[in-house]
Amino acid sequence: MPSENKKYDNNGPLYEKRRRFYEHDAHLKKKAVAEGHSVKISGSEVILYRGVSSTNTVIKELASSGLADRSIVWSQYQSQGRGRMRRKWDNSKPGRGLLFSMLIREAGLEARYAPLYTLFTAAVLAEAVRAETGLQAGIKWPNDMVAGGRKLCGILSESSLYGNKINYLVIGIGLNVNQKAGDFPLEIRDTSTSLHRETGRYVSRVRLLKTFLRTWARQTERLQENGWPYILEIWKKYEITLGREIKVISEERQLTGRAVDIGATGELILETPDGNHIKCLAEDISLGKYYYGKGG
Ligand code: BTN
Repeated sequence: MPSENKKYDNNGPLYEKRRRFYEHDAHLKKKAVAEGHSVKISGSEVILYRGVSSTNTVIKELASSGLADRSIVWSQYQSQGRGRMRRKWDNSKPGRGLLFSMLIREAGLEARYAPLYTLFTAAVLAEAVRAETGLQAGIKWPNDMVAGGRKLCGILSESSLYGNKINYLVIGIGLNVNQKAGDFPLEIRDTSTSLHRETGRYVSRVRLLKTFLRTWARQTERLQENGWPYILEIWKKYEITLGREIKVISEERQLTGRAVDIGATGELILETPDGNHIKCLAEDISLGKYYYGKGG
């Protein structure tokens, strides 16, 4: 069960004071968070906004004007945050979550490798969250981060392609950091969590981003040394899906079975009750009643 810290569980000034104190950082001072102000964090250009429609949309617009690899658009708030499977991402009470998109310039890479980047991002995030907070966050295939059976983070990757090659990738991350239960919309309150809800502590979003970027750089070096199978290796270190009975949910089909493995380009291999192995790629899964997800 999540360790909700009742002492701070209100919307009062004490919560705000402690949160602001803990998050005190030059990058986030009111003046610094001007629209489009840019700062360097762990070698990446980070462009800060108070509010945008969606950080993925903004970074795509900036990508065409020569934004460098690993640049980031971070916003305190999104009015039209987007999620996977055409869902909206609507838990962005200003300043509580870490909402950002990263540009990955991988020109020439075959498009079929794009899903692997999303798995890589989930593994890097899990590693960074564990290092920064000690929370044993796990990955639900393909790239949701969960803790205490609830959703902690979602990742939405989008790619700009020419033919079957990648021009660039945009990786959008919505990590719930300092939200309290009441900060989430009612529909997702029971199925969502935050680092604050799980640990009872305020967590600095700037520190998290720094740790994420450093972990990304270190793991990218290892990826270059070891090749694509390395992504599956680190993803497996943090995943909580394989070996479980799951439901696969998409517009086209609903399947149940056991998640037995993950394929070379990130697809989930499902073993159905009659022993067949089926590949799932752009779908969602439910891990049962203790995990969020429809029909769980
Ligand atoms: C999901 O779980 O469905 C993915 C959610 C991804 C949300 C993030 S928030 C930052 C970036 N901008 C968006 O519009 N979406 C992603």
